[in-house]
Order: sequence, then structure tokens, then C-alpha cells
Amino acid sequence: MQALIDKIVAQPALHSRWLNTLSMMENAGAKKIKNCEDPIFVNEIILKHAAEEARHAYYLKKQINKIEEKACPTYEKRFLLAPNTSYNYLNMLDVKICKYLKSNFGYTHHKLKYAAYLLVTYAIEVRADELYPIYQNSLNATQSSVTVKSIIAEEKNHLEEMTNQLKEFSKDWEALTQHALKVEEELFNLWQEELEIEVAKK
Ligand SMILES: [Fe+2]
Ligand SMILES: [Fe+2]
Repeated sequence: MQALIDKIVAQPALHSRWLNTLSMMENAGAKKIKNCEDPIFVNEIILKHAAEEARHAYYLKKQINKIEEKACPTYEKRFLLAPNTSYNYLNMLDVKICKYLKSNFGYTHHKLKYAAYLLVTYAIEVRADELYPIYQNSLNATQSSVTVKSIIAEEKNHLEEMTNQLKEFSKDWEALTQHALKVEEELFNLWQEELEIEVAKK
């Protein structure tokens, strides 16, 4: 992944679209959290989490101006990298995890929504904790004025918070997360393949 991100960062047109793609995915994550929250029993941790993911989307969008002013004004496919798998990633993860929870645990309604929120978000946080530092390495190596250090700090807290919530939710939390990580890895690999193909064309 490091070599791939190095190649992206080296080309401004790719780098802008990379930032825009991450912004779109963060925004999708923020929307997903809002969508899963209980209108009455939502707590401070969940409100904070949704707000921070929305901030990441805005922050990444703003970073694009450091590379090329207004290069990617919207999330249209032409302004994204690997648009198909980028758009599908979160939804597919959610669909697969909901299916697993329904058929293995019989969860429905709010319980299903909450369990899916916990597992989907957990898997994404594990990925974010791996991906953003790799990206920051590339930015450091090229002395880029773009930085994602503030995101790295927040994602680290998110992972801790998700782990705490999962521990409270189920004594089988480790087995649940193992499954979620496996599903996420398959989807991440598909995303990476589409990115590789697109970058190789440049
Ligand atoms: Fe985030
Ligand atoms: Fe996060």
C-alpha cells in the first residue's frame, strides 16, 4: 500500500482525487453513523463520533486546495479514484455484516442496527488506523503541506471507543470483530486492486 500511495502523492492530479475519495468515504461514514443512531437513546460518544467523521470529510476536502485550487468540487466519479469500489465499500460492508448478524444471532430492528454500527465502524477504524499513517509517511517523505495528523489522533480514539462499546455489548465481541475484519479485508483488497489499475494507467 505504501508504494501505491507514494505514486498517488507524487502526481498532483491523482493526489487531489485521492483526498476527495477519502473525503467522500469519511462523509459516507458520518452519514452511516447518523443513520444508525437511536433518536432518543443516542449518547455523547456516538454524537462525537459522527461529528468527527463529518469533520474529516470537510478537512480532507479543504486539503485539496493546497494541491490544486478547487480541483474536485463534487464527489462525481470523474473527481474520485477507484470510484466504483470507493462508493460500494461501506455499503457492502454494512450489507454483509447485517446478513451475518441476522442469520447467526437473529438480531432485528434497533439491536441489529446498533450491532451493525459497532462492527462496521470497528472494522473501518482498524483500517483507518493502518491507512492514514501510511499516507502520512508519504506526505512526510515529499514534505507536502498536506497533513492528516489530526485525523490520525481522532481515529485512534475512535478505535478505543468502539472496542469499549463492543465489550459492553457482547461477551463474544472478539469473535464478532474477527468476522467483521475478515469481511472488511476482502472489500479493502478489491478497492486496492481498482486503485492499482487506475494508477498504473497514469
Ligand atoms: Fe474518520
Ligand atoms: Fe473514525
